[in-house]
Amino acid sequence: RKPLIPYEEIGEARLSELIDRFYAKVAKHPDLIPIFPPDLTETARKQKQFQTQYLGGPNLYTEEHGHPMMKARHMPFAITPTRAKAWLACMAEAMDEVGLDGPLREIYYQRLVLTANHMVNRNEEGE
Ligand code: HEM
Repeated sequence: RKPLIPYEEIGEARLSELIDRFYAKVAKHPDLIPIFPPDLTETARKQKQFQTQYLGGPNLYTEEHGHPMMKARHMPFAITPTRAKAWLACMAEAMDEVGLDGPLREIYYQRLVLTANHMVNRNEEGE
């Protein structure tokens, strides 16, 4: 039987690999480079903590950083619809690379689409 918790189905090692590959793509994406720090080590560390709890694993992000308040934490950055699409494209490619497929991928990716769209806080003119 498959575990009911997505975090357990993906596993810690594959989730870590997914996030590392994701940020390798973010670092090279022309639409995303302008708003991310040049060194993504700490960003990736926090994202691993966040995705762990987002997928039903231990609340690692909250334990270290408090309530996620993700929309508020993204407000200093101009998250345009174009950047949301770019973020999701990087994630889809990273999912391909770690062989994440089937219903788990569909459910996880669709949730990320909703969350990414929710993060949009500027139009393309930056207003
Ligand atoms: C942090 C961009 C969507 C989770 C950040 C940072 C940027 C960013 C620029 C700050 C990086 C840093 O200074 O270390 C974006 C863009 C998105 C997006 C362009 C497109 C919609 C998401 C989504 C999630 C997410 C969908 C979760 C499912 C996080 C987390 C952090 C973060 C956990 C670290 C927060 C912290 O500093 O504690 N994001 N993000 N982001 N983002 Fe996003």
